[in-house]
Amino acid sequence: MPERTPYIAANWKMNKTVAEAAEFVDALLPRIAATQSDVVICPPFTALTPVVERRYGTAVKVAAQNMHEEEAGAFTGEISAAMLVELDVEAVVLGHSERRQFFGETDEGVARRVEAALAQGLHVIACIGETEAEREAGETEEVLRRQVSVLEADDGLVVAYEPVWAIGTGKTATPAIAQQAHAFIKSLLDVPVLYGGSVKPDNAAELAAQPDVDGALVGGASLDLESFAAICRASSH
Ligand code: 13P
Repeated sequence: MPERTPYIAANWKMNKTVAEAAEFVDALLPRIAATQSDVVICPPFTALTPVVERRYGTAVKVAAQNMHEEEAGAFTGEISAAMLVELDVEAVVLGHSERRQFFGETDEGVARRVEAALAQGLHVIACIGETEAEREAGETEEVLRRQVSVLEADDGLVVAYEPVWAIGTGKTATPAIAQQAHAFIKSLLDVPVLYGGSVKPDNAAELAAQPDVDGALVGGASLDLESFAAICRASSH
């Protein structure tokens, strides 16, 4: 099997002020300097620039947590791909289950945003995953197939498999469940697939060891310096 560089992304969600983000990144960089992982930090919009400025000269990349598909216009509260590129942001998370659940995002809307982001040269982490009710009803593959069907393989595209029942619940998918879902996703779309959902320092290595798990999208544990640094170390091999 070819060597893969694991891709570890920190999704801070609606957490960390500018001051907190700056302090965190200053302390994180020396702690992860020796890891072999590709580390991506996803701060809230307001903290993108301070994180970008601090990661110059390192291998760390910065991603936004959302963007709108239009180039400009009357879309109050939204941010375009070009606005992110102007800040030297390299990537964007799209279709997170919290965006789908709380902000009404649809598969088609996510697809339009993915296309717009890639067209502007941003890398994309596109999130998919089934709810607990869907898994219990035996619909996991059907849901994943539907969510993947609107995406097209691209060098700039990474998919994050985030089972909704595992997000923020402490209920991590077992390595076997993650592996099965990742293999299924890759049978549909030839892109790297990250796992997200209660990734912690003590389960990161086991998840990363699965043949089709190409990295992690970390929520809660990415807010804590030592936890996130430990996940970066545990995931590299
Ligand atoms: P937790 O790691 O807090 O479960 O969040 C996962 C997630 O949603 C990352 O995008």
